Amino acid sequence: MTEYNIAIIRGDGVGVEVVEEGLKVLQAIAKKYDITWNFTEFPWGSDYYFEHGCMMPDDALDTLATFDAIYLGAVGHPEIQDHITLNGLLLPIRRTFDQYVCERPSVLYPGITSPLRDKNAWDIDMVVIRENTEGEYANVGGFQYRGFPQEVGVQSAIFTRHGCERVITYAFELARKRNKKRHVTSVTKSNAQGYGMLVWDRAFAAVAERYPDIETRSLLVDAASMDFIRRPEAFDVVVASNLFGDILTDIAAIITGSMGLAPGGNIDPERRFPSMFEPVHGSAPDIMGQGIANPMAAILTAAMMLRHLGQEAAAEVVEQAVLSVIEADATLTPDLGGTSSTSHVGNAVVEALG
Ligand SMILES: NC(=O)c1ccc[n+]([C@@H]2O[C@H](COP(=O)([O-])OP(=O)(O)OC[C@H]3O[C@@H](n4cnc5c(N)ncnc54)[C@H](O)[C@@H]3O)[C@@H](O)[C@H]2O)c1
Repeated sequence: MTEYNIAIIRGDGVGVEVVEEGLKVLQAIAKKYDITWNFTEFPWGSDYYFEHGCMMPDDALDTLATFDAIYLGAVGHPEIQDHITLNGLLLPIRRTFDQYVCERPSVLYPGITSPLRDKNAWDIDMVVIRENTEGEYANVGGFQYRGFPQEVGVQSAIFTRHGCERVITYAFELARKRNKKRHVTSVTKSNAQGYGMLVWDRAFAAVAERYPDIETRSLLVDAASMDFIRRPEAFDVVVASNLFGDILTDIAAIITGSMGLAPGGNIDPERRFPSMFEPVHGSAPDIMGQGIANPMAAILTAAMMLRHLGQEAAAEVVEQAVLSVIEADATLTPDLGGTSSTSHVGNAVVEALG
């Protein structure tokens, strides 16, 4: 019997709905693999903000530090500015727990029709590794003359050689471990951003030298965006800064079928702190409360958490269960052309666990 203490933050909107299904699947798989889950739910997010004026309490990070992992839905509310929800919860967790790798796989599964013409199952099979603690999302900047007509906002991007090298190293290690195309693409913009992005480029070149068995390419972010659409099959592992990785993974999600299929993990590879697992999508206010959000991204995210915890076989079974529900084409949410509800899809995945 292996016991895990998991912090659950459902968050907002569809985050609440999809986490419910992820938990269902985790409970079902636990029986088969002799796992005991100690789930502790934290009601943090936008409702908490309306009541307390903050997204989570002052001691939230100390509380979370004691867990083996964090499983999160999404945060974001139409009546709260997004920088408040992001800076009040997600970013402090990622930074404090040094979750410097944001790992986001994108695979075109059998049974999914890509919006891109002539793409078949498995044609797209890539992982974007997004730098997750610094870059353009570093909390460095300020206002001058705030609120006045002449107000000025300064937003600084921070690229440290250490921060770039460690996330790029993770990408190369992953290319080896995947053993597919054995290729790493670096996404840069050093033609226009000749300071921080040059540190990124130099770090990439230095790390690449240590991996002569891995092919490399460096692409400007504009060209990378084009190639994600034009020839996504060319990518294996992609490593990008915080902002570029954020944007590119939405493209990667939609060309492989839906935001509702894209899982993600915020990982501290050194395991000094809990890693946090959350789907790529946000709180989707346009469909919240309708019971039609696709829970597959959250379920595949739970599989990533299982793998991180060392439960490789259980992770594999969960992923295969999702794939079999997709292929059966009988229980899908509207984003994948079906008419099923969030909970029906969750139940179908539980059944498919066997
Ligand atoms: N990690 C996070 O918590 C996170 C990430 C992105 C956005 N957000 C926040 O979420 C809110 C909404 O942002 P947005 O609309 O730009 O992005 P979003 O990802 O919430 O939604 C984008 C589109 O994808 C669809 N979608 C998302 N998840 C889906 C699912 N599970 N099943 C089916 N369709 C799904 C939505 O209906 C919408 O059309 C904002 O407040 C934003 O700040 C949070």
